[in-house]
Amino acid sequence: MRLDELHWVRRVPWSLDANWKVAIENYLECYHCSTAHPGLAKLFDVRPDAYELHEHERFSFQVGPPREGRPPGSFIDAGEIPRAQWHWAWPNLTVNVEPGAQNLSIDAWFPAGPHRTEGVTDYFFGADVPEALAEEVMAFSRQVGEEDALLVASVQRGLASAMVPEVNPTTTMRPSKATQRREPSKTSPPTGSKTTSAPRPFVASLTASTKFSSL
Ligand SMILES: [Fe+2]
Repeated sequence: MRLDELHWVRRVPWSLDANWKVAIENYLECYHCSTAHPGLAKLFDVRPDAYELHEHERFSFQVGPPREGRPPGSFIDAGEIPRAQWHWAWPNLTVNVEPGAQNLSIDAWFPAGPHRTEGVTDYFFGADVPEALAEEVMAFSRQVGEEDALLVASVQRGLASAMVPEVNPTTTMRPSKATQRREPSKTSPPTGSKTTSAPRPFVASLTASTKFSSL
């Protein structure tokens, strides 16, 4: 990654029909990728024993290796960056690096009401990256984003159904006994890898006292 060679190319605004915590939670894992993102799953190895999820108290990041046998000629083989990096910094900033040519994008996620999130993505590319290649990377990002928008809107509808126990956003939350209990999952990371344990129930952990929590 050569940050000093990157140039800003475009800012893309977007919106989601979901609470910002629901939207961010979706960003934090790729267990849903094999079914929700068929295009991404063709290019990246999203199996739990290959895909990395590193969890820390105030940030996390994911490392997505290109898939063996992927379709040839895509943007991920058009440069020296070997694998994807998807970073989250608490509470509402994410930074993405795709494999291939020099690139980086930054997402800012803003609460816009209990059921709405507004955001912008700024795309940066190396000066020598052809325009068509940059467009291909941004189109990939847009496709994944549109698939995630449908997912989080669905989750939001589920939360609004009154079938989910209410979480009080005005107090410092700790996961309830119910949310602490976790069934063994086929998608849990393998023991012994650098990958951390399966994701925590993030909506609860994000509702710690903060101005954002009122949204
Ligand atoms: Fe996703």
